[in-house]
Amino acid sequence: MATAFGPSDVERLEKVYAAPEIVEQRARTRAALGARPGERGLDVGCGPGLLACELAREVGAAGRVVGIDASPDMIESARARARREGLEARVELSSGDATRLDFPTESFDFVVAVQVYLYVKEVERALTEGARVLKRGGRYAIVDTDWDSCVWLTADRDRHRRVMEGRLAEFAQPHLPPRLPGLIRAAGLRLAQAAVIPLLDVRHDPASFSVGIIGPTRNLAVRHGVPREEAEAWEADLRGRTEEGRYFFSLNRFLFVATKP
Ligand SMILES: C[S@@+](CC[C@H](N)C(=O)[O-])C[C@H]1O[C@@H](n2cnc3c(N)ncnc32)[C@H](O)[C@@H]1O
Repeated sequence: MATAFGPSDVERLEKVYAAPEIVEQRARTRAALGARPGERGLDVGCGPGLLACELAREVGAAGRVVGIDASPDMIESARARARREGLEARVELSSGDATRLDFPTESFDFVVAVQVYLYVKEVERALTEGARVLKRGGRYAIVDTDWDSCVWLTADRDRHRRVMEGRLAEFAQPHLPPRLPGLIRAAGLRLAQAAVIPLLDVRHDPASFSVGIIGPTRNLAVRHGVPREEAEAWEADLRGRTEEGRYFFSLNRFLFVATKP
């Protein structure tokens, strides 16, 4: 079962997804996917719909982007975005589960899933479903994170490790990317492309991705057993690193493009 994403997550993601690193991640994902006018694509776990709307511009008036998400709040937010951007005729949105796609076999030219499968316990099934709905010759782009790649400058590395372990308890698959080439193959697909998308912040910028996840990381760590004082001390250390040269964060996202033979 998916982690429940509610209204506060919508607000949080809307903010974090405006960060320059994530804008760039979407641009690289779209470039790898190469959506063409008239195509029909599926965005699995579309969240607040930023990528779905960008893809809708690429497929043009004759194309369609279908977005599904387990969270009705995310779907509502994506719908509002499509309306605001005048794209409601090209973007179809509905609640749905990545492991049970309610679409006919071979009905999409491309499928994309960005930062979704880390929340999905039955990830093999999700990939088999994505592969099923893809047309022969279609493209399937997956972006996910391995949290082992996270480097964050902190005053107390042991405390940091405990906070991150608490945070990662939220994910069904915190280390999915190294397994993805094998899972893609097992789903009957062919791996066409693999790339790293680094997220790098060398200053404490409130608009950056990493500063945006400090609060949620504290909350998740506390929810998963880290004492509140410890999580707050970890947060205070990071938030205090505003002086030039005292902040560093890096995390790798991995982009895979598979094709259906
Ligand atoms: C971190 S957000 C990513 C949103 C979007 N793909 C993006 O990168 O902008 C994860 C999204 O996956 C959705 N999700 C999690 N598990 C899911 C599942 N089993 N089926 C469909 N959506 C799911 C969540 O509701 C949430 O909107």
